[in-house]
Amino acid sequence: MTTVDHGERIPNNVNLAGDKRLQRALEAWQPNYLKWWREMGPSGFQEDDVYLRTAISVETDGWAHFGYVKMPDYRWGIFLSDEDPDRTIGFGDQMGQPVWKEVPGEHRNALRRLIVTQADTEPASVEQQRMLGNTCPSVYDLRNLFQVNVEEGRHLWAMVYLLHSHFGRDGREEAEALLERRSGDPDKPRILGAFNEPCTNWLDFFMFTFFTDRDGKYQLLALAESAFDPLSRSARFMLTEEAHHMFVGETGVQRIVERTAQLMKQHGVERPEDVRKLGAIDLPTVQRTLNLWFTLSIDLFGGEVSSNAASSFATGLKGRAHEDQFEDHVALAGSYRMELFRGGAMAHEDVPMRNAMNEVLRDGYIADCQRGVDKWNKTIASQGIDFTLTLPSRRFHRHIGTWAEAFADPSGTLIGKDQWEAARDHWLPSAGDRAYIQSLMQRPIYDPTQMANWIAPPKQGIKGRALDFQYVRHEA
Ligand SMILES: [Fe+2]
Ligand SMILES: [Fe+2]
Repeated sequence: MTTVDHGERIPNNVNLAGDKRLQRALEAWQPNYLKWWREMGPSGFQEDDVYLRTAISVETDGWAHFGYVKMPDYRWGIFLSDEDPDRTIGFGDQMGQPVWKEVPGEHRNALRRLIVTQADTEPASVEQQRMLGNTCPSVYDLRNLFQVNVEEGRHLWAMVYLLHSHFGRDGREEAEALLERRSGDPDKPRILGAFNEPCTNWLDFFMFTFFTDRDGKYQLLALAESAFDPLSRSARFMLTEEAHHMFVGETGVQRIVERTAQLMKQHGVERPEDVRKLGAIDLPTVQRTLNLWFTLSIDLFGGEVSSNAASSFATGLKGRAHEDQFEDHVALAGSYRMELFRGGAMAHEDVPMRNAMNEVLRDGYIADCQRGVDKWNKTIASQGIDFTLTLPSRRFHRHIGTWAEAFADPSGTLIGKDQWEAARDHWLPSAGDRAYIQSLMQRPIYDPTQMANWIAPPKQGIKGRALDFQYVRHEA
């Protein structure tokens, strides 16, 4: 068991005190991080007491402490899962050899790129969500938003630790650049598409934490397999926190559709305009928002056929999610039959397995998404409402990979550009949808006994606390 040092400015279980140079470098980065947090973190709530969980160790029981904290005082720490001294590389060309404690020179650039790309998503999502507190449906939800935000901040710390400890001057420069890019800024955007998209209302937020944080889960599962052991250990502990982010998304959407279905049943209405008169979010609008965040998120897995993915797998940098569940860990034989858009039409191709790794990871992700959508549909059906939410085809609304060139409807049928554009607002949130959702979220709710009309209350509170517990102490 690694020892945890809480007395230090930066809580950690990596013996920072034993490496003064590294400690000083991270302590020099810390004020810049805090400056970024105050500028780009949750707007308007920095002085409030928030009932937050803080990671304090990596033990399965008791890794987290719950209590009130002002967000800028949150103890962002560096925690790596315990080292397994016998761990060997689980896939690729060096399968069975000991894992690396240091970065091999020949993989330095590729590994740094992987870490920076993961790291960049963490502050990006905090930036995307920074205004949401001002329209919160309850203090319970407000607290969950901030919980997600501070933990994305800790994930940034986890990645910056790796950059500082293993990549020298380049790593330190990358750590600074992570605080300089800004989500959605055309001059210095975040690296990946979905992390530059506006996340302007709570339906967006719940879809984001369901779909986009789940991309994070799959990337972390793949990095948890990495031959670079410090990265693997970081990713494994980050997954512990990530689970809550997806819980927030899954239950958030579930509570929205529950409330909508309840009101539809109670008032015997079906048409979206009638549902809107009741102040609920109509289910077709939920579907359109789902379509948007699902498609933005599957783009994050990269192109279907990828020599980059092949080389990351070959070299041991990045595996598949749950690599041990696959039979062949070398993946030199065999191929993956996939649908691609070639020469203006759909084609089926057998792609060498290593080049298909992005698609393999995307498959696991989509199956995981489907499980959540099935639960939402159960909730809708349990109110006796006949409406089914569906994941759109992976050919629909893509910006990465071969389908980026195609126009397809949500069922995957290829259509013309004009036809697509004419139907766009049936498939993706329209300006009118956004305006309507915004109109529901004009007034934040800071009274712990209140819940916005458009969302059902949660089943239970946080860490055994009551639903009307004062999760955030905010003077309105
Ligand atoms: Fe994260
Ligand atoms: Fe997350």
